[in-house]
Order: sequence, then structure tokens, then C-alpha cells
Amino acid sequence: MYMSTDEIRRAFLAFFESKGHQIVESSSLVPANDPTLLFTNAGMNQFKDTFLGLEKRNYTRATTAQRCVRAGGKHNDLENVGFTARHHTFFEMLGNFSFGDYFKQDAIKFAWEFLTVTLKLPADRLLVTVYETDDEAFEIWNKDVGVPADRIVRIGDKKGGKPFESDNFWQMGDTGPCGPCTEIFYDHGDHIWGGRPGTPEEDGDRFIEIWNNVFMQFNRQADGTMDPLPKPSVDTGMGIERISAIMQGVHSNYEIDIFQTLIKDAAAVIGHDDLGNQSLRVVADHIRSCAFLIADGVMPSNEGRGYVLRRIIRRAVRHGNKLGAKGAFFYKLAAPLAEIMGTAGEELKKQLEMVEKVLKIEEDNFGRTLDRGMTILAEALDNLDGKVLDGETVFKLYDTYGFPADLTNDVARERGFSIDEEGFNNAMEAQRQRARDAGQFGVDYNDAIKVDAETEFCGYGATEGQAKVVALYREGEAVEAINAGEEALIVLDNTPFYAESGGQCGDTGAMTADGVQFVVADTQKFGNAIGHSGKQAEGSLKVGDKLTATVDAARRAATSLNHSATHLLHAALRNLLGEHVTQKGSLVKPEGLRFDFSHLEAVKPEELREIERVVNEQIRINHAINTDVTDIESAKEKGAMALFGEKYDDEVRVLSMGDFSVELCGGIHAANTGDIGLFKIVSEGGIAAGIRRIEAVTGEAAIAALHDQEALLAETASLVKSDAASVATKVSALVAHSKQLEKEIQQLKDKLAAQESAGLINQVQEINGVKVLVTKLDGADNKALRGMVDELKNQLGSGIVVLGNVSGDKVGLIAGVTKDLTSKVKAGELVNLVAQQVGGKGGGRPDMAQAGGTDAAALPAALESVTPWLVEKL
Ligand code: ALA
Repeated sequence: MYMSTDEIRRAFLAFFESKGHQIVESSSLVPANDPTLLFTNAGMNQFKDTFLGLEKRNYTRATTAQRCVRAGGKHNDLENVGFTARHHTFFEMLGNFSFGDYFKQDAIKFAWEFLTVTLKLPADRLLVTVYETDDEAFEIWNKDVGVPADRIVRIGDKKGGKPFESDNFWQMGDTGPCGPCTEIFYDHGDHIWGGRPGTPEEDGDRFIEIWNNVFMQFNRQADGTMDPLPKPSVDTGMGIERISAIMQGVHSNYEIDIFQTLIKDAAAVIGHDDLGNQSLRVVADHIRSCAFLIADGVMPSNEGRGYVLRRIIRRAVRHGNKLGAKGAFFYKLAAPLAEIMGTAGEELKKQLEMVEKVLKIEEDNFGRTLDRGMTILAEALDNLDGKVLDGETVFKLYDTYGFPADLTNDVARERGFSIDEEGFNNAMEAQRQRARDAGQFGVDYNDAIKVDAETEFCGYGATEGQAKVVALYREGEAVEAINAGEEALIVLDNTPFYAESGGQCGDTGAMTADGVQFVVADTQKFGNAIGHSGKQAEGSLKVGDKLTATVDAARRAATSLNHSATHLLHAALRNLLGEHVTQKGSLVKPEGLRFDFSHLEAVKPEELREIERVVNEQIRINHAINTDVTDIESAKEKGAMALFGEKYDDEVRVLSMGDFSVELCGGIHAANTGDIGLFKIVSEGGIAAGIRRIEAVTGEAAIAALHDQEALLAETASLVKSDAASVATKVSALVAHSKQLEKEIQQLKDKLAAQESAGLINQVQEINGVKVLVTKLDGADNKALRGMVDELKNQLGSGIVVLGNVSGDKVGLIAGVTKDLTSKVKAGELVNLVAQQVGGKGGGRPDMAQAGGTDAAALPAALESVTPWLVEKL
């Protein structure tokens, strides 16, 4: 039964919906709030906290078609892509999840029913594996489902590996939720080489794993301990490309509908006919990860995620070049990709223009980098002592200029050199190690302060409240009490302090009780708890104490104006610049706001003025700022702007300012837009390819900014003895006047030089019948020497001129020889004769040469040496 990939995706989600699962959208490829992970690499990522019991959702069963990238970090497939039938940088994972709801029994039955009933796969082509000791899963497969025992393979830990290192024990990363799993394999038939899982031939292509059902039971800690999860859960993943291959009767993933289309399109834009070429597969694979990564907000750069993206783009471009691509081609594949991805391509379609532009810029830049690399390689070969190019240079070309070692090798070979492959491999290995280290960047989730407590936030309408201390920390360690003078972190049962999030900075303020004062310098979230960090100023505090928590209300009010203005700015940008504008970052503080957004060119001054005008207009309309707490689906129906890729709880706050701005937001806002008073942009600039930043101020700070400008204008006016109204006319008159003066000065200088050369003519001597002028000048303009020599040569008609000029502590030398004499005397030799004696070196044409020197005292003697030298030559 043939099914397109899009049909399979929809059938899967519909099947699990019919089994009581909530269909949840794929999350972004950039994991939200998870610094342990480079890219989203499995369907379960967005549910990590739900499995750990840290986050509650209003459903216990979910199903997704999750986009994933495995190129860096724990699961890295990049080097294999294009050369095997089933490795991809980007793939989609179909999954069903149970959060403490059903467990092994239902998971196994659902999977079997979907494969054999919905997709009608013959049961005798399927084979399953279970974790060696998982008798329960074995029994379910065998007794309940009826899979014969000889088609159920037990797989244990890897020989020589660590405990739980097994194909049938799945772990998201070095830490986090994990558990034993059962995998379903499809037998592609005995015409393909390969053995059953667990046999020495298992790496063959006959038995292909299609679906992994993980029984989440543990939270692995950094030290290897396995903490049981609050409730046993289920996480499954089926690569859509693999199941598509089966449903479309093909063996390699590259033969499925999506890849066939992309390979044909790649061949067309590159101009290559052999559709079986592996480089086309690489390009077809890479456009998927690159386009979706950019749509999810990653920009090519030299570090972290952006660096991985850059390397994938370069790999694709190189493979295209290998097939003879002329000019940028890769970006042209984003549009056909968005089309062929069906329901999974909708978000990409919206951002297509931006994705294409970013790819094109990166391709063009890489083209230039390639040229530079070629120059560097040519130079390195020119200066080579032996016959072997060192590994470090080969690596530098690879790493900085994107030159694969084989390309370097080709170029070197053409010129009779070879490359040090071992040295290159060593440098590569060192790089891989660095990349592995970078894969585990940032704080480890489990290392951060772990607070079991939950703090209720009650600061939306208040800046003061009564609370109880539930935990105290000093230097990351829980303590029972803190004393005056100590820095600490306090967790309360409830608090009016806003913890930094959504770009809004954390509140500051104080906590007080009788004879007790703690000064709060910052407020942050720790899981579900809110931590106040600061210093105990007076008295001591212990767990259980009651106190009054008071937020610095003025600071909070200023911050809230900036936050509300940020929403107006966001809406105005989208209205005026276009829907492609999406928020890429935001910082809201009492002093002002900073907003980063995707937009490919600088915002023009007239656009900035219009943005400012529109925001201020919305301020004057004085919309009431309304908050509505609802579920995410109804919020989206209302048209609330959700940040793509942001993780939201099921209950969300929808913030609206009339119809102008409707946005999901957990932050603190003004009551009415009129409270903002005034909005003033203070800067606009680019911070990365395709990302702009606007900084602005509101309220008091906006007035202060205007006052500063006024003061600046008044100061300028008084400097030019004018007033604000006529300062521009006055300054432009001054500029014109100074231009006129410069012109006059230049004319005078030229006149002076002409006069001086006229005077110099009297000093001409004759050597062997040739007119020669050798003289020293004082304080002449070095730039005028050339003109003087031309002038003198003209006047002599035939002759030789040598001038030495001392200006400050520098010596300027110039020699001129008329053309008829250059066969006897070269100006370059002449000027060098003098230059050597005054600590300099020079050069030039046979008829005109210049030099500099530093030893002014030696100049007279040096000039005297010219005559005897010329006597010899002439
Ligand atoms: N999370 C599991 C996997 O990625 C399903 O294989």
C-alpha cells in the first residue's frame, strides 16, 4: 500500500489521537530552556521536564511529528550523511508519549496495531528486540501480541562498555530521563545482505530498525546514578523517512518521495544529470537541516549552534561545486523543500524569504572564503622547503577556509607536492575533542541548584507580600540559617518578586522582619522555585521565618513601561517592515529596552521615524492593557503572537493592547499604554547576519534622552555663535568657508613650490656635460617633492635631480632622471645610494624614485657622495 510521507505523518497523528493522545506541535530545533542539548534530537526533548515531574500538562498522552537534527553533541551523524542509506542531519521523528499514564503493555500494543492494521505491514516481516533483562516486555510481545519467541531478540549491555550502555537502553544524553527499550525491525528481504540484531552481521542493511519504544523509568545523574522517575512513562520514536521507504517499496531513504524531489531539484539548480551521484544526496539532505535551523532562529556563525550550521552549509556547497555548480545554488532549494514537506513545511513557508536570503549571503561569503583559501594554499606551496605540506596548514585550510583535505591534496599534487595526512588527522582529532566538549556546553541541568519547593508568584498586582522562608542557600549549598554580612539565596513559599524571564530582568528590593533586613539584588527561577539572591544586611534568618517581601516599586514600574513598549514595538515592526520580523531576543530593564529581530537589511531612518511615530500614537490612544489567562489553543485562535520555538505551559497569559498587539507573555506590564508616556529609539544596528537590534527608552528616560539632545544642540550652537534655529545654516556656511580656505592654501603651496624650484635651478652643476641638481631642503612638504622634481625635470629638459628634505625627524628623498639618461643612471639606484647612508631604503621607476630615512644629521654628507658617484657613471 503506497503512502506519501505526508500521508504517513497524518495517519500516525490521527491514529494516536484516536487513542486519546493530544496532538502537540513539533518544538523548535533549538531546545527551549535546555542548555545540555545542542539541537532537538528526539521527540521527547520538549517533554523532558514532564517526564522528570517538574512540569505538569493538562494531558497525560501526547503525539508529535518532531523535527530533529543530529549533527553535533551526543547523537552526531554528520560525517556519515550521503554515504549510507539512512543517515541524515535532519529527520522527523513520529512519537507517542505517556506521562505516567500507560506503560509497556499499551505502548507495545499501539505500535503493533499501527504497523500491522493501519499500515498493513505483514507481521512476518517484523522482528523485535528487548533489553536483556526485560522479561515483562518479552512476555507482552510473545503472549499478548503473539510474536513468536524466535522473533524476539534480547540485547544486553555492550561488551566492555559501561552498565546500561546498550542498543536497548535509551538515554537522551549523559544526564536526564532514560530507560530500557524495545525496538521494532523490518526485514527488507533476503536479497539484501545483513543479519538479525545481535548477530555479527547486524550492521548489514537487511534488518532495519524502524521504531523505538522507550520505557522511561530513570533520571540519570552526572555521576551515573539512576534516580527512579516519579511515574514510569513511555517515549517512542519512529523515523518517518524509514517507514516511508517501506511504504513506498524502496530500500534507501534517499529513494522516498521527499528526497527524490529534492535530488531532482538539486540536480537542476546545479546543472548535473547523474541523479545517482552521492553528492546530490548530501545536498538534498543538508538543505533540510539548514533551512529548518535558520527558520528556527539559528544563524551561521563561528561558535556553538551557528558554527554547526555553517559547516553543514559549506559541506553542501562544496558537494555542489564538485558537481560543477556555478555561483550560489543551495538557497534555491529552500522553496521546493517547504513545498514537499507538506504539513511539516508550513512554518518554513512563512519564513522562506528570510531563509533564502541568509543561505544566499552565506554561500556568497563562502565563495570569497574559498578564493582566499586558494591564495593561502598557493602561498604555502610557494614557500615550502620540502615536498610535504604540513598537517597544521592542511587543517587550517579545512577549518577556516572550508577546504576538505582531498581538495588541498589535489591542488598540492598538481604542483608535485603531497600533504601530511597523519598531521592533519591529529589536528582533526583535537578539533573533534573540542567539538565534543562544546557539545556539552553551558550549565548542566542537574548541577544547578535543585530546589524541590514551588514558589507561588503573586506579584502581578502587588509589590509587597507576607511570606515564609522555605529554603536558604550559601554558595550553592543548602543551609539552615544566614547571618548579617553573608551573601545568600532565599526561597520563599510565595513572593511578589518577579524572577527574570521572557527578557524581563528580575526584581530587586528588600525582605524585612523585626530587626532583620535582607537586600535583594536579583531574582531568578530555579525549576518551579523562585530564588532571591542578595545580602543579609541586618540580623539573621532561618528556614521557617516569616517576613515582609517588598519589591523596589519605582524600578519595577520603569521596567513595566519598557516591557509594554516592547510589545508595541514588536507589533509596529511587523506592521511596517513585514511578517518576517520575528523576535530573536529581548532585554527589558528599568533603564530601557533592547529588542533583536530578524530582518535582512538596516532599518532606514525614515522607517525608524515611522515606527517611533506609530508606537507613540498607540501610547496616546491609551489602550487598557488586558491580561487573559487561557489555554494555548484558544490563545492562538485569538491570534496571539506566540514566539516560534518558545515553550509555553498549557495555561498561558494573553496580553492585549487593543487590537494592535496581542501576545503571549508572562511579564509585568503597565496598566494602560498611556503610562509609557513617550517612546524614543536611541539606536539601530546589526548584531549578526539577518538580525537587527533596536534600543529604546520610555517614560522619564525618554524625556531625559530628548533633553540630552537638546543640550548637545545648544552647546553646538553656542560653539558656532548661533542659536538652535539657525545652527544648521551656520554650520554649513562654516564648512563651505573652510573648504574655500583649504583650496586657497593648496594654491599657495603650489606657487611656493614653483618658486622654490625656480630658485633651485641656479644650483645646477654640470658633470661630464650632464645637468645635475643635488640639494637639501628644509621643512618642505614631503608630498610636494614629486611635483617639484617633475617641474625641475621639465625646466632642465635633460638632466638629473636629487632632493633631500628634512621635515621634523624624517628624511624624505627623491631622485628624477630624464628618460634620455636612464640607460646610464637609474633613479632607484641613485636614491638608494643616499637612503642607505641615512638609515632608509627606497625604490621606484628608472626615471623617478623615492625613499625615506631617519638620520637627518647624515644627510649633507650623503648628498655630497652623489657627485663622485655620478662622475663615474656619466
Ligand atoms: N527517544 C527515543 C529515540 O530517540 C524514542 O530513539
